Amino acid sequence: MKTIDWLNEREFTLDGVKFYCALDDYSQKTNAARVVILKDRGSLEAYASVFADAPPRSMLEFGIFQGGSPTLFSLWFELDKFVGVDLSMPALAFETFCRSHEVGRRIRSYYGTSQTDQERIEQIVRDEFGDTPLDVVIDDASHQYSLSRRTFEIAFPLLRPGGTYVIEDWGWAHWPNSDVFVGETAMSMLVMEIMMLCASRSDLISELRVFPSFAFIRKSPDATDMSNFSLDRAYAKRGIELVGLNHTNLSGVARLLREHVGNRARQELQRVVQLLRRGN
Ligand SMILES: C[S@@+](CC[C@H](N)C(=O)[O-])C[C@H]1O[C@@H](n2cnc3c(N)ncnc32)[C@H](O)[C@@H]1O
Repeated sequence: MKTIDWLNEREFTLDGVKFYCALDDYSQKTNAARVVILKDRGSLEAYASVFADAPPRSMLEFGIFQGGSPTLFSLWFELDKFVGVDLSMPALAFETFCRSHEVGRRIRSYYGTSQTDQERIEQIVRDEFGDTPLDVVIDDASHQYSLSRRTFEIAFPLLRPGGTYVIEDWGWAHWPNSDVFVGETAMSMLVMEIMMLCASRSDLISELRVFPSFAFIRKSPDATDMSNFSLDRAYAKRGIELVGLNHTNLSGVARLLREHVGNRARQELQRVVQLLRRGN
């Protein structure tokens, strides 16, 4: 693993490439002078503590934005190959960078591709990695519960036994004064489901390390084939009421109604919410 040279809390260099940590500022773009990455120093230290002893050789990431994570991880861990998938159109300055820098030969980016398009994801992984399973999968894409959950079902099986699945920014519902995805099911529900999976199926998950920003999920070294994996059927649910069948956060819906809807419509909708709560 190479060494990152921090210039200040927002900027660092690695192998002659300058990076800018834009944190959650999506308006920042990669340009000829620096590559933009949406991670802070603490997040990178979490990665270092997990992977220092056994740096990975291959990575698949959902959500590459301006190319900061592909560039950083390929250089930092000296990856053989990094494959990125993103719903958006290509980040042109990043594509130009990849054509002109050695590291670009180890990065493959697939744009206009959803993290939940199972057929396409499996095809990409077959094309890029053949039959060799992945060392690391990172989900830094939508950060929405249902999409992230589906992505886990699709991509966790693609890891090698002993490989690591990373869920970034899982805790947005609990950040102080957070207004991220108001009314939607918290993504922390997925981390809790995975924790229950770890207890129910230690043959699939051997370790779960949760940091404030990231969760690192280690696939058991003894894991066998996981074709047609479904979380619904995978863990025992005795004694839990957290995860509903329809994934709807009714308290969030009720709060949205209070804040945004007129009196008459509010009363009618609250009546519907009450009926739903009673299970009618
Ligand atoms: C937080 S940014 C990724 C930041 C990047 N990993 C980094 O560290 O610099 C999230 C990215 O996910 C992409 N994205 C959002 N929803 C997605 C989806 N359903 N499928 C694939 N990509 C998605 C967005 O286009 C955006 O580029």
